[in-house]
Amino acid sequence: MKNIKKTKSYFIRLILCLCLASTAVLSGCNTDTSSTAGESGVSGMTDTSSKTTDVSSDNKPSTDSIDYMALVNKTHPLPDDWEEKLETVHITNSVDDDVEVEKKAYEAYLKLKAELETEDVYVDLDSARRSISEQQRIMDDFTEKYGKDYALKTVATPGYSEHHTGLALDLYLIIDGKDIVENEEMIQYPEIWSKIHAKLADYGFILRYLEGKEHITGYGYEPWHIRYLDNADIAKEITSKGITLESYLGTASESDISIDYGSSEIYSQDELKDAVIQIKCKFASLAGCELKSIRYAGDEAVTNENLKRMNEINPNVKYTQVVEFLMDFHSSENIIDTSFEASRDYKDYQWWLARTDDSGWEICLMSDV
Ligand code: DAL
Ligand code: ZN
Repeated sequence: MKNIKKTKSYFIRLILCLCLASTAVLSGCNTDTSSTAGESGVSGMTDTSSKTTDVSSDNKPSTDSIDYMALVNKTHPLPDDWEEKLETVHITNSVDDDVEVEKKAYEAYLKLKAELETEDVYVDLDSARRSISEQQRIMDDFTEKYGKDYALKTVATPGYSEHHTGLALDLYLIIDGKDIVENEEMIQYPEIWSKIHAKLADYGFILRYLEGKEHITGYGYEPWHIRYLDNADIAKEITSKGITLESYLGTASESDISIDYGSSEIYSQDELKDAVIQIKCKFASLAGCELKSIRYAGDEAVTNENLKRMNEINPNVKYTQVVEFLMDFHSSENIIDTSFEASRDYKDYQWWLARTDDSGWEICLMSDV
């Protein structure tokens, strides 16, 4: 973020985007290293997938256990004492990547995997525990390739990734013996993901980044990212209610939001949807704010004058299209961002986004006037 401009009676918050891309919500965006799990054994467990899996225990002396319900998200960093309590195993997957996983989560994963195989569904571990430096490398890579806004809705800031816990597992699919690891390919198998998702809770896992809940989780839909809670009853409750971990833990509310794409002769609904996901992911960083509605401001806002404004905000990028949305939300009592007043109903809050011919939407300007 750069450049904050304020006027006497109101402020305008400018968010400048260095970005190049976000053409498709999920295209090319698996944030994780890949793997295909193979044979393995930890404490008598067997991993029956395609290739030999080398498992070594990295157990650290620990007197205290990690909190399996810990919340790590855009506003909650990894707890300070996590590393000293964490017990992990390393596996080598079929594409010879090392994957480190929290020990109990791995045991549960093996059971889930075995169950899925009875239904001819084959998965493997792409990525699980990541260090801060690994997360930074992924963030840098995504920012360079797809731009900052796209990276922020896809990759967690180092220190704020659930992957640091070792409890978040990214799966990938094996179909007819072929590893399907790229996001844009994986997303083409919704029926397989449905079968997988239906089994998660029995083994203490939840699907973490739900479609439509981006304003709470802060990330786009990720069918592959599952989170271990070490409690099947809680996982079942969260899953059956279709809520986020944030809501279960009381840091967000699941109140209904309305999204109105209006009728545009300039943009398709998918193009507007991409912009809304971008907005929702950004909104999630305003901890505790309650989103009420988002609506397309109309083709009237798509003018050369407004496009020029966006290009003036970020002169390093040559935007060719602009779009405006209006949002109603209630700001949190404890909002940290001083651009916002605490406990206030914001109406018609403006979100301006722009894009170049070959990049996705970037948030250029947020303003309450
Ligand atoms: N892809 C998830 C949000 C992460 O980077 O932690
Ligand atoms: Zn993940």
